[in-house]
Amino acid sequence: FDTGLLSGKTVFITAGPTREALDPVRYISNHSSGKMGYALAQAAVDAGARVKLISGPVNLPAPPRMERVQVQSAQDMLAAAMDGIDSCDIFIAAAAVADYRPTAVSEHKLKKGAEEIMELRLVKNPDIVASVAALPRKPFTVGFAAETRDLLSYARSKLERKNLDLIVANDVSQPGIGFNSDENAVTLVSRDAALVLPQTSKRQLASQLIRQIAELYNRAP
Ligand code: C5P
Repeated sequence: FDTGLLSGKTVFITAGPTREALDPVRYISNHSSGKMGYALAQAAVDAGARVKLISGPVNLPAPPRMERVQVQSAQDMLAAAMDGIDSCDIFIAAAAVADYRPTAVSEHKLKKGAEEIMELRLVKNPDIVASVAALPRKPFTVGFAAETRDLLSYARSKLERKNLDLIVANDVSQPGIGFNSDENAVTLVSRDAALVLPQTSKRQLASQLIRQIAELYNRAP
């Protein structure tokens, strides 16, 4: 496809899960594979962009021709996202960031006690994509919404609440697509339109998404 679509543009992409430490050997995380974010990063490079891929821990090799910054926690991911953000034209948040982290990280391994119930205290993590979209000189900002019901209405309210330019909405109740799968199907939701991209490989979908994002970005004032 048209390799000049994003030439001269800088794209930041978050991908994969975050890990929120409890102690030196334990953490809270999720099953995100990072495949969608990595496929988007590859498609953006193929479209001529300079790409910074900000990745949580995943089992994927560093793709060629891009900068990969590896992080663990949501707080690390936010710092990596803000580093050099002034040069970023398009920010795509594909990471499955942990909503909460333990209030404190124990310096030593937590010990098993006599009690049957153990309670964990958690504190809300920063919202990375909303923090980027709140910047005075914000890049064109794209978020994802994984929902099991009312896909479009939740996506629209997320678009407003986080001040995003585009939401990639994903129905995760459908088997065989989304989380940890090789295929996906999404609906693109902007302020004034919705566009369905039917089920295909994450690689194919990533090229289609990058093309749509580039078109909207180039049309934006
Ligand atoms: O609010 P929710 O987690 O459903 O929003 C999903 C979108 O927000 C995704 O694009 C995700 O990468 C981003 N997000 C983020 N930081 C968070 C939580 C979500 O960037 N702490």
